[in-house]
Amino acid sequence: MKQDRTASSNLTWHHHGVGRSDREELLGHRGATVWLTGLSGSGKSTIADILSEMLHERGVLTAILDGDNIRHGLNIDLGFSPEDRKENIRRIAEVAKLFSSFGVLNILAFISPYREDRDFARSIQGEGDFLEVFVEVPLEVAEERDPKGLYRKARRGEIPSFTGISAPYEEPVSPEVILRTAEFSPEECAMKIIGALEGRGIIKGV
Ligand SMILES: Nc1ncnc2c1ncn2[C@@H]1O[C@H](COP(=O)(O)OP(=O)(O)OP(=O)(O)O)[C@@H](O)[C@H]1O
Ligand SMILES: [Mg+2]
Repeated sequence: MKQDRTASSNLTWHHHGVGRSDREELLGHRGATVWLTGLSGSGKSTIADILSEMLHERGVLTAILDGDNIRHGLNIDLGFSPEDRKENIRRIAEVAKLFSSFGVLNILAFISPYREDRDFARSIQGEGDFLEVFVEVPLEVAEERDPKGLYRKARRGEIPSFTGISAPYEEPVSPEVILRTAEFSPEECAMKIIGALEGRGIIKGV
């Protein structure tokens, strides 16, 4: 379990008696990470909520990690420079990996605009445990929705480095799921993710 970036030496990984498969057996589903990426206003938080409710009803243990909320605590020290965005994603990817090892179905809702950072998040999860979900919407539609009034502020120059306006968004190349939120309802989008989870055997079908 050696990592490339450890700042300390003399570390030994401790293998605990109750492991991931024991917890997954207890829960009746696998731990995994659903990684929602897309522009601000694309619908990540909305879909995360509905998906979590649907899964909860089916007895699946979920955890939502949502951008703004995480920046209130764990990542309170990080801003929106490329370096801070990278560190933001690195930390939450590690948290998701940890939760997956407890058998939790993680739902992450972060703009996560850089391909490299999302690829890192994928690389530290086990094969098949990571679903990159591209929450796709035309910029004009996201800007029209503007649920937090952020696009208006960004257009007035009040928010530096705003994704889609003054900072880049790198679209996923081969995401496991694409959700076109200008065409489908949040419920339809959540159902599509559930289908993908069932198809991979992460959760059981009903
Ligand atoms: N199919 C859809 N899926 C999700 N949201 C939709 C859809 N259609 C319309 N909406 C609306 O779009 C808005 C999406 O806002 P939401 O806060 O979920 O975006 P977000 O991607 O989490 O943005 P941010 O990155 O700023 O947190 C909501 O007002 C929601 O009602
Ligand atoms: Mg959100």
